[in-house]
Amino acid sequence: VRTMAVMTSGGDAPGMNAGVRAVVRRALDGGMDVYGVFSGYEGLVAGGDAIRPLGWNDVGGILPRGGTFLGTARSERFRTVEGRRQAVKNLCERGIQALVVIGGDGSLMGARVLAEEWQMHCAELGQEAPAEGRAGMPERLHVVGLPGSIDNDLYGTDMSIGADTALNHIVHAIDDLTSTAASHQRTFIVETMGRHCGYLALMGALGGGASWVLVPEEELDLRWHEKMSRAIERARAIGRPHQMVVVAEGARHPDGLPIRTEELKRILAERLGIDVRVTVLGHVQRGGPPSAFDRILATRLGVAAVELLMGAGPEPLCHMVGLQKNRVTTTSLSEVVEKSRAVGRHIDRGNYQEAQRLRGEGFVR
Ligand code: F6P
Repeated sequence: VRTMAVMTSGGDAPGMNAGVRAVVRRALDGGMDVYGVFSGYEGLVAGGDAIRPLGWNDVGGILPRGGTFLGTARSERFRTVEGRRQAVKNLCERGIQALVVIGGDGSLMGARVLAEEWQMHCAELGQEAPAEGRAGMPERLHVVGLPGSIDNDLYGTDMSIGADTALNHIVHAIDDLTSTAASHQRTFIVETMGRHCGYLALMGALGGGASWVLVPEEELDLRWHEKMSRAIERARAIGRPHQMVVVAEGARHPDGLPIRTEELKRILAERLGIDVRVTVLGHVQRGGPPSAFDRILATRLGVAAVELLMGAGPEPLCHMVGLQKNRVTTTSLSEVVEKSRAVGRHIDRGNYQEAQRLRGEGFVR
């Protein structure tokens, strides 16, 4: 591979910049040309100035910055065959043979589809192109994904880029809320992100010492309100006058409807006659500088992605690099895409049981 491109896609995640920096510098060091795709798949379809060469200094100073300097977008145009054909044309025109995508499962799925459709689009574009233009068309597109999502819901890696930073935000928020909850003897309901995956809520509850956690992976029984109310009542009766209840945004009632934190607040306040407050952490969880862990993770994976491309043979690469048991590993993108949703629904039972055992009312004997 002589010419490659790097992009970020989907929701931003702290550490994406560190990943881009590592990809660009390792590629330049290896003698490749690197393009940056600005605004995710939207930029890939738009072409023009949205796909431009990056030099060593272009990625200077971005390592400690949150967000992604390449920008990101959720692209409707890329969802269409015409949009992807345009994306292929834009890559072909620049002689780009490989694409590194940093993003979540939807973004990695996009990369896989692009690689699969490459030859079909090239054949069509080749019929339109003059013979000399056709000769320069890359025969295949190698794609390598880096897991970038605060949700930590991707198969093939123990941690995705951004999850550790988000988790630190959550734990610090719980610490801060605990002091005011204690002063006012209040119960706080803290809503975390995590559309389909309870990782952030569960680990936030473990790290922040919360009294209760509700995650999408747990099928609640019909009387869960009552159980929670009784536990809070008992805890208060023996002198524990403040509680933290952590709710993942994707948590659901037994009938499948989303649990609304304001509704839970009303139920607890009415049943128990206590003071309840809701804090929705929202996008604060995705913001700010990446933690040391996320910087290092993204750097290691960025370097590994380029090194994988350096060893690419005639077969098109279609993989994600991840971290498993503190080793950089490679998993096929089809496996990642197919298994990610399923794994998201199976958080570590051990951690869940631990959170339950250690929560406040567990000690009420
Ligand atoms: O997937 C990352 C994530 O932060 C989810 O946890 C959350 O549900 C979603 O993105 C929010 O998306 P948006 O920023 O588009 O509102």
